[in-house]
Amino acid sequence: MSHTTEVVRLHVNGDSVEVGVPAHFTLVEALRYGLGLTGTKQGCDKGDCGACTVLVDGRPTLSCILPVQEAEDRQVTTVEGLATPEAVHPLQDEFDRHGAAQCGFCTPGILCSAAALLDGNPEPTRDEIREALSGNLCRCTGYTKIFVAVEAAAARRRGR
Ligand code: FES
Ligand code: FES
Repeated sequence: MSHTTEVVRLHVNGDSVEVGVPAHFTLVEALRYGLGLTGTKQGCDKGDCGACTVLVDGRPTLSCILPVQEAEDRQVTTVEGLATPEAVHPLQDEFDRHGAAQCGFCTPGILCSAAALLDGNPEPTRDEIREALSGNLCRCTGYTKIFVAVEAAAARRRGR
């Protein structure tokens, strides 16, 4: 079966890139198979699990159900873009400290959802964290370590 290839212009983690991808690709497919950014995971591939969550213009977005064309000329941030050259994101450090990266497959999406939360709400309550992560399914040991890590990262960002 032949596919029409299309060149799309994406802004990912601060870089502007043009990439040729099959026209039916979603954003997660363009990221993983077009750009080699495999940090974003392709889980259920139908909008149910949150593993593919990235930030589009700062908002958590399910990249498995977003046609890649709809991401053109918008700012996309993947898990690879959360850290700076100087340091990992406080969330990444606190996930490490608290053992919150469990199976790891869901972690990139959880980190992106949590990063957007902290950008808009520096001092979220446990319920606000729970709500912000409600679209990111974790089926291993539960959410407690994840919530504690997000709270620790928020506190660190506030300078405590
Ligand atoms: S892979 Fe996108 S929601 Fe599951
Ligand atoms: S972190 Fe992946 S199932 Fe819990």
